[in-house]
Amino acid sequence: VETLATTRADCVALDAADPLGPKRGAFELPPDVVYLDGNSLGPPPRLARERVQQLLDREWGTGLVRSWNDAGWIEAPLRVGEKIARLIGAAPGEVVVADSTTVNVFKLLSAALALRAGRRVIVMREGEFPTDGYVTQGLAAMTGAELRCVAATDLEVALDADVAAFCVSHVDYRTGEMLDLHRLTDAAHRVGALAMWDLCHSAGAVPLDLTAAGVDLAVGCGYKYLNGGPGAPAFCMVATSHHERLQQPLSGWMGHAAPFAFEQGYRPGTGITRLLSGTPAVLGIAGLEAGVDAWQGVDMVAVRAKSLALAELCVTLVDQRCSGLGIEVVTPREAARRGSQVSLRFADAYPLGRALIARGVIGDFRPPDILRVGLTPLYMRYVDIYDAVEAIHDVLTSGVWRRPEYAVRTVVT
Ligand SMILES: Cc1ncc(COP(=O)(O)O)c(C=O)c1O
Repeated sequence: VETLATTRADCVALDAADPLGPKRGAFELPPDVVYLDGNSLGPPPRLARERVQQLLDREWGTGLVRSWNDAGWIEAPLRVGEKIARLIGAAPGEVVVADSTTVNVFKLLSAALALRAGRRVIVMREGEFPTDGYVTQGLAAMTGAELRCVAATDLEVALDADVAAFCVSHVDYRTGEMLDLHRLTDAAHRVGALAMWDLCHSAGAVPLDLTAAGVDLAVGCGYKYLNGGPGAPAFCMVATSHHERLQQPLSGWMGHAAPFAFEQGYRPGTGITRLLSGTPAVLGIAGLEAGVDAWQGVDMVAVRAKSLALAELCVTLVDQRCSGLGIEVVTPREAARRGSQVSLRFADAYPLGRALIARGVIGDFRPPDILRVGLTPLYMRYVDIYDAVEAIHDVLTSGVWRRPEYAVRTVVT
């Protein structure tokens, strides 16, 4: 009989002693599920049910159009932006909630080209989350900007006096590798370029201090670690020093200095408000605000400590239980180079993932061969990791993942 260094009872004991343990009660999670996909879609905070109900009944239902003023709908993008600013170490007035990450990449990279007029190169990394690349290709086609795509290890050498900005994910969506945000931001500044970070896999996942790092621009999404709900609005961050000269091409009425003056010419609003374009998605922002409020009073240092402990546990158990089964950990083993996920490589990761989901162990698949285990310390338990690795072991040793139904591709993976 194989002896494990860590038993299920050990994990139960770790959960009992976990200072973040009680936070799990703030979320609605089905009892028969091991949820490993909070890095793709966070579960509903209990607060969301209450808030959305109130929005439907009282604000939309009874207040009707008066609620734009009376229920704070019009201020919601800035109000929730302030709360996100605190989570990512940005200053007050530097973050606003709007649109999707994709649209925000377009707005901010356009703004970066305008702030660095005369420079036309945008640096990105190979293997970047595709939407960032797609939208930058569109922007390049419109503006004549040039896209310079390099390996993550070559980002620093790709920066020169032609570069307006880089736009790079802080944590890689596939491998979970975390780049050195301070170092790359400094490298951009040394050549007079702007540093723009995609924080989709960082906000609510790892401690961030954008102000201390001198980050110029950032985007991130609301539905992953912030638990804002499916398709929740995204956020944009712009350092205060750039506000006055900030121009973005989707200059809609909500970013105007006086939207309800109905002037014919565009005059940008003050500060970060000029990043707004159209009417805020009030229902979506309500979910996002509930998600962000679930973070109140949470110490990001404790979150990071637990995330690293969950990762260690996962890596150790996979090494022990799954050696010789064709599966390996691809996330960096050094804690400092890791975001808040563990990625496993297996040649048939897609059917493996489907077979796990059929057992109630929900992770996700990213091509060509990655099974992702998202680590979300607010509601994840040590025992979830234990049960997930046992399920992986069982599914691999029994060969159940080979069933033909698990090979059928769903639209969303
Ligand atoms: C790094 C990164 N950027 C962008 C996105 C998605 O952007 P959007 O919210 O526009 O769909 C994701 C979603 O998974 C992502 O991981």
